[in-house]
Amino acid sequence: MTSGRDMAGQAAKIGAARAGAPGIEAAEARAAESKAPGIGVSGTGASEIGASGIEVNPVAGHIGAEISGVDLAGDLDDAVVAGIRAAVLRWKVVFFRGQRLDHAGHVAFARRFGEPVVLGKRGSASPPDFPEVETTADRLELGGKFGMGHDEWLQRRRHTLLRGWHCDHGARIDPPAATILRAETVPPYGGDTTWSNLAAAYAGLSGPVREFVAGLRAEHRLGVGYQPRPGDDSYVRHLLDHQVASVHPLVRVHPETGERVLFVNGYYLEQIADISRPESAAILDMLLEQATRPEYTVRFRWEPGSVAFWDNRATIHLAPSDNAHLGFPRTMHRVMLAGDVPAGVDGKPSEPIIGTEVGRW
Ligand code: SIN
Repeated sequence: MTSGRDMAGQAAKIGAARAGAPGIEAAEARAAESKAPGIGVSGTGASEIGASGIEVNPVAGHIGAEISGVDLAGDLDDAVVAGIRAAVLRWKVVFFRGQRLDHAGHVAFARRFGEPVVLGKRGSASPPDFPEVETTADRLELGGKFGMGHDEWLQRRRHTLLRGWHCDHGARIDPPAATILRAETVPPYGGDTTWSNLAAAYAGLSGPVREFVAGLRAEHRLGVGYQPRPGDDSYVRHLLDHQVASVHPLVRVHPETGERVLFVNGYYLEQIADISRPESAAILDMLLEQATRPEYTVRFRWEPGSVAFWDNRATIHLAPSDNAHLGFPRTMHRVMLAGDVPAGVDGKPSEPIIGTEVGRW
């Protein structure tokens, strides 16, 4: 979404000016003002069709909108791209149904919104000719690589309800700005994904707690959400040999909307800096519970051809864990857009600890 700076500049100014204003209403007013010309997205959530011709229908109170009236494989004019971008900024995740994107179309669509990330390593299910596309079934293969069956792998990565929630690559110094996930094959039931709006979650805290957490920073580390096997666990050895960790602000200022975003997740967040471990654990439990309250979430039922496009700076998501035992295939492809180094309310950027460099994947 880095190429959205111009469009978002106005919204950022509004957001930055009001970033100190408390309350969900203030945050939502800021978000509503991040709309681009050419699209009708009302702050109250009514569906509207703008000059771009796309229709945006919000599907939950704080997050999520379904967009219709656009063929993502076609040549998109600038007004449509601006409209989609505005809807992503406003609703944090947008959904498209019945799309006919192939890998090339997926990458071309992503390019309209930023620079697709090229991953250094992908599994064998990912398409070799499209280095920007990662087929998420790959991550299930990983279990086998470390001597675990499919079910055990999933279970060890999601051992508590909250630990599975994550933004993509949150331990990096520059986590992706956005992810575009496309469904090829989905189970007939089960397999939904859920997202949460971290700007709304921050705005929903009481004023003194907002002030308190805005001054904190925290260490994010790859593997925190993983529950080790008893005895020798080759995945733990792998994690130790390939560490990725950064210190991020606990509240980041969104670079495009100016909103304050509660930068927490269960999968990467290890410890709040400069406070004791028990204090950190208690605060994190409270913040994670806040970040995943049902009212800040939306759940999406996938169909083949569905596409979800989310702002990875303002959301966390939970991959499904209700389908592995069913044995139905689920094949998804994702393209991520390069992101910025986060900055806190004091303007201080995140700092790398180990294994991560800006722009280097
Ligand atoms: C992810 O957790 O990044 C993928 C989400 C999904 O496959 O539903």
